[in-house]
Amino acid sequence: MNNDAVVERVLGWASSTIRELPWRTTRDPWGVLVSEVMSQQTQVGRVAEKWPVFMERFPTPSACAASPLGDVLQLWQGMGYPRRARNLHRCAVAIVELGEFPEDLESLLALPGIGPYTARAVLAFAFGHDVGVLDTNVGRVLARVGGKSLSVSEAQTLADALVPSGESWLWNQAMMDLGGTVCTSRRAHCDECPLSDICQWRGDSGVADPARSSAGVSRPQAQFEGSRRQARGLLLKRLGQGAVVLAEVPDIVNRSPAQAHEVVDGLVKDGLCVLESDSLRLP
Ligand code: ADE
Repeated sequence: MNNDAVVERVLGWASSTIRELPWRTTRDPWGVLVSEVMSQQTQVGRVAEKWPVFMERFPTPSACAASPLGDVLQLWQGMGYPRRARNLHRCAVAIVELGEFPEDLESLLALPGIGPYTARAVLAFAFGHDVGVLDTNVGRVLARVGGKSLSVSEAQTLADALVPSGESWLWNQAMMDLGGTVCTSRRAHCDECPLSDICQWRGDSGVADPARSSAGVSRPQAQFEGSRRQARGLLLKRLGQGAVVLAEVPDIVNRSPAQAHEVVDGLVKDGLCVLESDSLRLP
């Protein structure tokens, strides 16, 4: 793979095509962290609506850390996967304790719930460090362009090697857009792709998609209707209006008493609600 050619084409494409997204106007590490945690399991459109609201309410780690987790959970309504809100709140507390926002990979990885993807995203998008931000979209682009499936560590090594010095922000945002809008998992829009003339796969239906067998390929989200996740969401939403007596939970989550019990147990264990004698409330 000709790295220089890949970089030149992607940066050229990005200068005219990159999406305007609310968090792309900030280099504030807290703002970047919030946007990346939100984007992990929620569609870009919904994050674009919620991120400005979150930043208005919790503009700094201190503002977030000083608020009860329940306030963060209430604001998180509609985003799903609320453990992310809990992790952000824990991150805020940890950052306040550190006294400054961590600016190296190791310290970022030590924050609660922060993995290699998010840590690198903060380094690239807030601090401009020359690191490759590797998510499933970017991994797919790399595997297809090179025409070979990649393990996570191979993909990370390649992603790091490609970053054009001093252009980490634009490069990584561009690769994300390319993977998210052009080189998509279901269908590759090769006619719109700046890499189509040097891509080893080029959407060839006669050749196995190299991204299919690459490590870190994302699995589709499990069905929501009737799921534990749905029941948890219903109860958290109701708790946003105030405390709930345990006996009301089966009706609220529309499940048997035994299932309702498990839902409550799970939320309490995850630190997402608090049980006091016979009633439940947000933390
Ligand atoms: N998904 C995750 N991070 C993103 C970003 N910075 N821009 C667009 N989509 C994303």
